[in-house]
Amino acid sequence: MLSEKMQKALNDHFTAELYSSYLYLSMAAYFGDKSLTGSASWMKIQALEEMVHAMKFYDYIEERGGRVVLQPIAQPPSEWASPEKVFEEVLDHERHVTSLVNDLVALAIEEKDFATHNFLQWFVGEQVEEEASADEVLQTLRLAGEGGNGLFMVDRELGQRTFTMPPDVAIPGL
Ligand code: FEO
Repeated sequence: MLSEKMQKALNDHFTAELYSSYLYLSMAAYFGDKSLTGSASWMKIQALEEMVHAMKFYDYIEERGGRVVLQPIAQPPSEWASPEKVFEEVLDHERHVTSLVNDLVALAIEEKDFATHNFLQWFVGEQVEEEASADEVLQTLRLAGEGGNGLFMVDRELGQRTFTMPPDVAIPGL
């Protein structure tokens, strides 16, 4: 059984993951508009991964006998000054999400909710990867420089990313 406070915090984080998905989908649309199809594809996959993160929270809240309550999702930005600025925002956003996950872990410890603490460990590890992959793309973009051949090469490389649905997310048919 989840405490009221923990249930609210988990629902808030479920919404934060949905916002992440929304933000990355908006970035996909930005890249699509610029004909940077590899970057658009990378962002669509990132948006799907965030949806998977959200569903892990959804399933966990239900598994613990809690109630999932959907909240409004804020409108994400739709324009950026450059591809580099987009990935700067990805890195900033992932650092923010890491701080949210850390706050949840601290709450789980405070409440002696060790099941939730255990559930959150996957996200602690995932955030290390999320920050590292955003930083890697950002550094590559900076090395390549804006515009021209360098950007074309990075875009093509980003287009190689593929999505695999994790087996523990209960979405029938997927
Ligand atoms: Fe779900 Fe990118 O953190």
